[in-house]
Amino acid sequence: MIALACDHTGIALKHEISAMLDEMGLEWKDFGNNNPDRGDDYPVYGYKAAEAVARGECDRGILICGTGIGIGIAAGKVRGIRVCTCSDVYSAEMSKRHNNSNILTMGARVVGSELAKMIAKHWLTAEFEGGRHQRRIDMITAIENGGTPEDIL
Ligand code: RB5
Repeated sequence: MIALACDHTGIALKHEISAMLDEMGLEWKDFGNNNPDRGDDYPVYGYKAAEAVARGECDRGILICGTGIGIGIAAGKVRGIRVCTCSDVYSAEMSKRHNNSNILTMGARVVGSELAKMIAKHWLTAEFEGGRHQRRIDMITAIENGGTPEDIL
């Protein structure tokens, strides 16, 4: 299950992404916003989607705001969430292979819809490589838990 969310800037792109997920045979759940009025708050939707990923209701999330940055910062405050904000395919794929990112954010005002779909497809089909990369994820988790990276050595 893929969590989807956006602010008012990302509604059209989110619908293009959900159509692509349908074509890929992947289930998704929309955590809003779907109201095109300006002035909504991206942390509201970023938090809802990130929280669903963190508690296991969803496996991953794809979130969209104007830049992808604000909604990514908000989502990344949820424990257990590792966000990649991407506007290129290489970073998106490597963020899964090496960083085990569980939320991808993109900027609807930054990337065109075809590039965004390509980025999302690479991210969704990439696999975490584990090994030495798992140790580094464990270090990140140690920081999140109030410790330091050296705690896990
Ligand atoms: C909304 O104008 C814009 O600030 C928002 O979509 C996002 O880009 C914030 O990071």
